[in-house]
Amino acid sequence: MIKTPLCDLLGIDHPILQGGMAWVSTPKLVAAVSEAGALGILGAGNAPPNVVLEYIAKVKQMTTRPYGVNFPMFSPYVQEIVDICVQERVPVVTTGAGNPGAYIPTLKAAGIIVLPVVASVALAKRLERAGADGLIAEGGESGGHIGDVSTIALVPQVVDAVKVPVVAAGGLADGHGLAAALALGAMGIQMGTRFICTTECEVHRNYKDMIVQAGDRGTITTGHSLGHPVRALRNPMTRKFEEMEKTGLSEAQLIEFGTGKLRLAVEGNVSEGSFMAGQSCGLIDDILPVAEFIQRTISQAKETLLRLPQYVAGTPSRASGAG
Ligand SMILES: Cc1cc2nc3c(=O)[nH]c(=O)nc-3n(C[C@H](O)[C@H](O)[C@H](O)COP(=O)(O)O)c2cc1C
Repeated sequence: MIKTPLCDLLGIDHPILQGGMAWVSTPKLVAAVSEAGALGILGAGNAPPNVVLEYIAKVKQMTTRPYGVNFPMFSPYVQEIVDICVQERVPVVTTGAGNPGAYIPTLKAAGIIVLPVVASVALAKRLERAGADGLIAEGGESGGHIGDVSTIALVPQVVDAVKVPVVAAGGLADGHGLAAALALGAMGIQMGTRFICTTECEVHRNYKDMIVQAGDRGTITTGHSLGHPVRALRNPMTRKFEEMEKTGLSEAQLIEFGTGKLRLAVEGNVSEGSFMAGQSCGLIDDILPVAEFIQRTISQAKETLLRLPQYVAGTPSRASGAG
């Protein structure tokens, strides 16, 4: 119902990507998203190569539709994961937290579509020159490791700066968000937080419930003193991290405290886990099967887009019965 050039590039029905999320976007979620006609993306995170290989094998068993693999540039196994993606003929690779320019030629030579996540216009331009097929412009509203420009300001600036298709990410959780992103010039959207609250996502129920219960101010960013801010739900863990940063603990102590905390969240540890999530948590109030959520998003985006022409002067109003 909503087609953009991104759908043709990726071979998908709907211009929606489920963002790669370490420990969170495991094969079951990825396959469900791809089966529903959007693009499911595995989160390789820091996982060792054998785990990533196993994940890919499981996805291939569950779907024949296009899927992706995401790795953050801080993974100690970047080269190994790149080699696996080439060997396994992974259709799409997305990258986070850094500059994947050095790996783009190898991935592209293997016929892989490369979509790096960027948080600035400068990196977007550099990666377009390096051969990226498209760019995911991610604003600071999003969950996990973030940049400092908001989605609504970043996306149109990236769209103006590059010729390749741009996907908007950060703060988007429904069809209104999809319609807004298309209005900003994006060819589709990537959502992370919203996909955690789906039946097929394998995180502990506590994680999903905490997102559903959180309101517009339910998240906080920590880690600014380390130069790598992270957005997560407010809980005892983030409060403690905030205090530790204020008391000027060393970088090594902060890193040690933060390490492994997303995994605790995935296991449902409400006080010690880092429940990475974006500001869109205030928009999320249910846990749905993936296919139902995608259908709802597309219908809502379509309704929104069809409603907008009434605001253009001279357009007959549907509400008045004239259209
Ligand atoms: C729990 C969690 C883990 C994430 N892990 C990664 C990751 O490993 N690599 C990456 O590129 N982005 C990661 N992200 C970002 C998502 O892929 C996506 O771009 C982001 O969630 C979009 O914003 P939203 O949360 O407002 O939907 C993560 C996000 C969340 C919420």
